[in-house]
Amino acid sequence: MSTPPNAADTKRALRNAFGTFATGVTVVTTRQADGTPRGFTANSFTSVSLDPPLLLVCIAKAAHSCKAFSQAGHFAVNILADDQKDVSGLFASQSTEKFDHAKWDVNAQDVPLIEGCLANFSCARHELVDAGDHLILIGRVLDFQTADKAPLGYYKGAYFDIGLEDDLAKAAASAAGISLGAVLTCETRVLLHQRNIGDICIPVAPARTNSVEGLADHLKGLGLKPALDHLYAVYQNTGNGSQRIIYHGTVTGDAPAGMRYFELNDLPLDQVMDEAERSMLRRYVQENQYGAFGIYHGTDVAGVVHAVTGRRNYQI
Ligand SMILES: Cc1cc2nc3c(=O)[nH]c(=O)nc-3n(C[C@H](O)[C@H](O)[C@H](O)COP(=O)(O)O)c2cc1C
Repeated sequence: MSTPPNAADTKRALRNAFGTFATGVTVVTTRQADGTPRGFTANSFTSVSLDPPLLLVCIAKAAHSCKAFSQAGHFAVNILADDQKDVSGLFASQSTEKFDHAKWDVNAQDVPLIEGCLANFSCARHELVDAGDHLILIGRVLDFQTADKAPLGYYKGAYFDIGLEDDLAKAAASAAGISLGAVLTCETRVLLHQRNIGDICIPVAPARTNSVEGLADHLKGLGLKPALDHLYAVYQNTGNGSQRIIYHGTVTGDAPAGMRYFELNDLPLDQVMDEAERSMLRRYVQENQYGAFGIYHGTDVAGVVHAVTGRRNYQI
C-alpha cells in the first residue's frame, strides 16, 4: 500500500476508497421556491430511523440544486431499478431540462416522483446538517411505495446489476438441454458422486429437472437436507450445446449410496473426469479460503467469473 504524495492525490484516493462501498442509486427530487422541479442522482442515501421514520441523503454544496434542496420543506428519494441507468445519468448531469426527459408524477406534497423505481420515499424536511463540503438532508418519511424489481448497483464508480444471478439462470433455463448440479459442502467437506472407481463428479439432478426447486427435491429424495444458497456457474457444453447450471449450497445428512464426503483440502481432483467440473472445484477451494465466491459464466472451455455482489438465497 503506497502513501499518496499530495492533497489532490489524497482526496482522489479517499474518494476511491469510499467508492469501494457498494450502494444502490437514487434520484432525490424536490421543487424549488418557484415550483420548478429539481433533482439529482445520489448514492449517499441511508435509512436512519424507524421510529420516527427518518432517512438521509447528502448533497454537495457545489451542486446546482443545493440551494433548492436546502430551502425545500419536502423532498423525495427514488430508488432506481436496474433498467434505469439512463435516469441515473440524466439526473447526474447539470442539465436544466432533466424533468423534460424523465417519466414522473407527483406525490401529495406536489414533489416529483420518478416512475419505474424500486421504491419512492416522500419526506418532510426533518433536519439540515452542515457537513464539510456537503449538506446532510434528513427527511421524515410521510409515505412510501415499493415495487418488485431488481435494483441498480454502484461500485467503484461503475454500475452493476444485482440481478445477474437471476438473469443468468433464466437465460440458461430457456435453452434446450439443461443439466443442474451443485457444489455442496458440509462444514469442511464437499459431497461428491463416485460413479466408478477413479470417476468422480458433483451431484446432479435427473435429466428432466429444470429448476433449483427440482434439484433440491432430488437431493431431499436422497435423504439429504440441502440449503442451496447461490448460483455458482452457468456454462455451455461446447460438445453438445447443453447448458449446465451449478448452484452452491450446504448439506447435512449421511452420504447416499454412490456419494461420499471429501475433505476440502484433500479433494480427489485427479479423479474428477470432467475438466470443467475439475476447474470449478479448484476455484471453489480457492474462493473458500477467502470467503468470497464468484459466478462463472461462459462455456466449459472459457468464461468469466463475476463477483457476487448481491446474494439471493434459495433456502429450500
Ligand atoms: C451514482 C452517482 C451517485 C452520486 N451521488 C451523489 C450524492 O450522494 N450527492 C451529491 O451531491 N452528488 C452525487 N452525485 C453527483 C450528482 O448527481 C451531480 O453532481 C449532479 O450534477 C447534481 O445535479 P445538480 O447540479 O443539478 O444539482 C452522484 C452521481 C452519480 C452518478
